[in-house]
Amino acid sequence: MANKTVISTANNTARNIGPVLLLGPPGAGKGTQSKQIVDRYRIPQVSTGDLLRDHVGRGTELGLEARAIMARGELVPDELMYGIVACRLREADCKRGFVLDGFPRTAPQAGWLDAFLEKEVFENSVKCPPIVIQLLVDYNQLLQRLTGRRSCPACGRLYNIHSQPPLVDELCDCDGSKLVIRDDDREEVISGRLTAYESWTRPVADYYRVQRRLVAVNADRPVENVTAQIFGVIDRHCRDGC
Ligand code: AP5
Repeated sequence: MANKTVISTANNTARNIGPVLLLGPPGAGKGTQSKQIVDRYRIPQVSTGDLLRDHVGRGTELGLEARAIMARGELVPDELMYGIVACRLREADCKRGFVLDGFPRTAPQAGWLDAFLEKEVFENSVKCPPIVIQLLVDYNQLLQRLTGRRSCPACGRLYNIHSQPPLVDELCDCDGSKLVIRDDDREEVISGRLTAYESWTRPVADYYRVQRRLVAVNADRPVENVTAQIFGVIDRHCRDGC
């Protein structure tokens, strides 16, 4: 058994995975599942939400512009997103593949990503078409996940007071830091985020469905179960294509 694990990790480290896109509404579990993919396939998570929050935290020009938009639960304009995504995807650790969490979020962003991959990524490496996974979750479950989410400001580990509470109330299991609530997880902002998803991000799923690239996963299950479905999709894709 131990040997099997070593062999499978070695294979995952050597082979090209290509881009993995996680689509889904706020609270669907994109961040949670990205971390599982990172651990298994040794490719980085590129979360546009985290990139933006980093800019906000550092008070950059982009951060100052994005801050108020994010606080309202609206989408940051496409033109501002392209620069930060392109910059991150050009980094060396993305060569074998990456998990995109939160991008594309509009149909124009999806078109931009296709062109970027074709021009900048596939030109220098084996062509691996994106694996596009849509996480499906019931609306009421989303609300419970968002209002119950807590995260560690030091290591980024995610918790949920309903489904994945820390061992000690409000403290991170790994480093004991006091857990925080995201600014946009306030109830009055959550409804704006879900509305933005319906208007702008649902068409992204249609964009990939038409191209027969969309694989839907039932994400209304325990985390491990969703992870197993996602690993199945990625492994099949790599066996058949990349
Ligand atoms: P972003 O940070 O991307 O937020 P989001 O898409 O709203 O998604 P979340 O991070 O809220 O949820 P998630 O799906 O990652 O769920 P998680 O794993 O945390 O974006 C924030 C803002 O930035 C946007 O509103 C926008 O303003 C801006 N932005 C970002 N990208 C942009 C773009 N491309 N264009 C324009 N603007 C952009 O899980 C949630 C909770 O549920 C956790 O507590 C977790 O523990 C729990 N949980 C997870 N899975 C399960 C499960 N299976 N069962 C039970 N509980 C679970």
